[in-house]
Amino acid sequence: MEKILVTGGCGFIGSNFIRLLLQKDLPWDIVNFDLLTYAGNLANLKDWQNHPRLKFFKGDIADRQAVDQVFSQGITRVVHFAAESHVDRSILDSGPFIRTNVVGTQVLLDSARSHKVTKFVHVSTDEVYGSLGDSGFFTEETPLAPNSPYSASKAASDLIVRSYVHTFHFPAVITRCSNNYGPYQFPEKLIPLFISNLCRNEPVPVYGDGLNVRDWIHVEDHCKGILAVLEKGQPGEVYNLGGKSERTNMELTKALLQSLGKPDSLIRYVKDRPGHDRRYAIDCSKAEKELGWQPQWVFENGLQETVRWYLDNPEWVNSIRTGDYLRYYQTQYGNS
Ligand code: NAD
Ligand code: DAU
Repeated sequence: MEKILVTGGCGFIGSNFIRLLLQKDLPWDIVNFDLLTYAGNLANLKDWQNHPRLKFFKGDIADRQAVDQVFSQGITRVVHFAAESHVDRSILDSGPFIRTNVVGTQVLLDSARSHKVTKFVHVSTDEVYGSLGDSGFFTEETPLAPNSPYSASKAASDLIVRSYVHTFHFPAVITRCSNNYGPYQFPEKLIPLFISNLCRNEPVPVYGDGLNVRDWIHVEDHCKGILAVLEKGQPGEVYNLGGKSERTNMELTKALLQSLGKPDSLIRYVKDRPGHDRRYAIDCSKAEKELGWQPQWVFENGLQETVRWYLDNPEWVNSIRTGDYLRYYQTQYGNS
């Protein structure tokens, strides 16, 4: 049986990806390696944690010894999600971003290379391309021009991956996706933060003029794209993935207010994010043509389903608000 290593599998996208693999009942053993930072929540996989083909190891991708130990269990392919992922945090302190996203990726690559993995999917982001004006799309040929410490650390990791392909013929593939939404997203990101505030009749902080544009993709569509890349992506290639659903932050905020039946008076315009990218939009025609993948979700339906999920799972949001989720690992595994 093949053994797939998923790094960052307790985060938002990683946990959705593991769930997709298990639901599809693919003939693979899955090793989830995650440090359980503030963004990692073991309870994201609560319903699946006793699955015979899923194993969890707590550890740091920047720790070569720990990473080697995991690879020595016979890992054949890797899907690398683990990262510091929130732009605002990178502006407050870029240190953890350089350590995990840059050094961690390098350590993982070195160990993967010495253990001769056959495929390494590096999950990157459209933010490495920088910011667009009112028109145009990011293609895989768009030059890298990251603007935040977060996107700069991801661009650095992309370049390290690229260099391993070129120098060592290492079988890596890079994906660059747009803004994800859906269940289990940490409530620091726009959509879950706003839903959680509005549910408590608290204001929602809209940065700047609220006219920045993001291209939203349902996390399930992103995960299906990553699976297609894992199965069919060509080593050395980059694949853009996007949702074809551009919205201004204000359009999105109004949709959330409407969906939850809340008044516009809960909108608060606040000071803009420093260096705030204006617009992202993805051309994903390469993935469509070469992998036969397409985003399936209609944004309005996906958003409704997402709002429903947060309403139906108040204990998930509350455990994050109270910090209880940080103790879930101890209750399952003790103090190790
Ligand atoms: P997340 O912040 O929800 O999860 C990150 C996970 O990585 C957490 O479980 C955390 O514990 C783990 N982690 C962090 N540092 C680690 C370390 N040193 N060692 C091991 N594990 C560590 O992130 P996400 O939103 O699920 O994003 C996953 C990946 O997808 C990231 O690489 C991100 O750059 C990329 N991405 C995210 C989006 C998005 O919209 N969220 C879009 C495109 C690409
Ligand atoms: O494009 C992909 C990227 O999308 C991923 O690589 C990142 O990991 C992910 O965090 C996301 O980055 P953004 O900065 O676009 O996402 P965020 O949810 O933080 O913000 C979305 C937009 O909403 C952005 O224009 C900033 C704005 N915003 C955000 C927050 C948290 C607000 O107006 N108010 C807020 O409180």
